[in-house]
Amino acid sequence: MATRAATWAYRDDHDDFARTFFRRFGSGVVSSIGVGTYLGDPTDERDAAYHDAIVTALEGGVNVVDTAINYRHQRSERVVGRAIADADVPREAVVVATKGGFVPFDGERPADPGAFVQSEYVDTGIVDADELVSGQHCIAPQFLDDQLDRSLSNLGLDTIDCYYVHNPETQLADHGRDEVYDKLEAAFEQLERRAADGDLNHYGVATWEAFRVPKDHESYLSLPEVVERARAAAKTVGNTATHFRAIQCPFNVFMADAFTVEAHDGPDGPQSALWFAHEAGLNVFTSASILQGRLANEMPESVEAKLDGETRAQRAINFARSAPGVTCSLVGMGSVEHAKENVEAGRYEPLGADAFDAVFE
Ligand SMILES: NC(=O)c1ccc[n+]([C@@H]2O[C@H](COP(=O)([O-])OP(=O)(O)OC[C@H]3O[C@@H](n4cnc5c(N)ncnc54)[C@H](OP(=O)(O)O)[C@@H]3O)[C@@H](O)[C@H]2O)c1
Repeated sequence: MATRAATWAYRDDHDDFARTFFRRFGSGVVSSIGVGTYLGDPTDERDAAYHDAIVTALEGGVNVVDTAINYRHQRSERVVGRAIADADVPREAVVVATKGGFVPFDGERPADPGAFVQSEYVDTGIVDADELVSGQHCIAPQFLDDQLDRSLSNLGLDTIDCYYVHNPETQLADHGRDEVYDKLEAAFEQLERRAADGDLNHYGVATWEAFRVPKDHESYLSLPEVVERARAAAKTVGNTATHFRAIQCPFNVFMADAFTVEAHDGPDGPQSALWFAHEAGLNVFTSASILQGRLANEMPESVEAKLDGETRAQRAINFARSAPGVTCSLVGMGSVEHAKENVEAGRYEPLGADAFDAVFE
């Protein structure tokens, strides 16, 4: 498990970054740039490239790695595990996050995906066929329990630092919003139990649309309601406080809705996801921070002119990690070259709050 002492010591070993590069996460600290592992083919070559990129990032000053059991058919989790073991960095200095919700394949896409899901998950009783949405998504407690065990094994870890329920808005395709909140609460109860057992330290919700769309959008979920459900779950299982600590949502120059769309009811009216999360004491990890690579090629000139960084990708990363309320911007990096360039973005100051606001005026 990432510890307070080891993450702060890691920060001290990397004290040559710009101000605010390291930020609080629980009692520890994390770099405001993290490694993502979503994209890329499920091949041995890509595994090897990810391995070297992750080792480079970990040894260079980035102590956050984000993955999910379904990414690249479990290959990403497995390579994250190998890279953490091989990097010259203590495991306790690294915050490792993964996610469960999408039924994962195993190493490669099977010839008959439906038959695979049936034999591996339905016939074995891990998933009730009625609980599957679109044949591939489930947040039932017993399924997440199974997935958490598989993730621990893939990663070779005793404890996952942050376990996300992956894209819960997928459930809205088959269920009403209140039913999805109930399902989330049941999932959270199981995660609170696993936290009490020491298998995970924190949990959260990773989303693609839920928290950044307006209230009347079909994929909308209310962050205040989700937080309430986490508090209720902790109470039900007898934990003194909830282990719900983080959310993930896309955020970049072209997808700034988590900052601009006020869809979450705070004490004084509607708030953006970022602002609500900040006031609720939650950590926000941004995904698609460079728009899946596009921002390395194109960015509005007026925004780019305000940002520090030697390369366009660095400037794009620095936009994402400048947003108020953001703890860490995740960037998929599958080559040593990209890892080096992206870590170097942290040598530049992010925008201050006023300068960031000015981008939207
Ligand atoms: N709903 C969710 O929970 C969700 C959704 C999306 C993403 N995520 C998480 O967030 C992470 C980041 O998002 P993402 O990977 O989708 O998109 P991203 O970080 O915006 O972009 C990653 C892409 O940019 C390329 N890239 C990286 N550094 C570069 C550089 N310096 N110059 C040019 N290109 C560069 C990468 O190529 P190489 O791979 O070749 O380096 C990759 O193709 C994911 O990896 C995942 O961990 C979560």
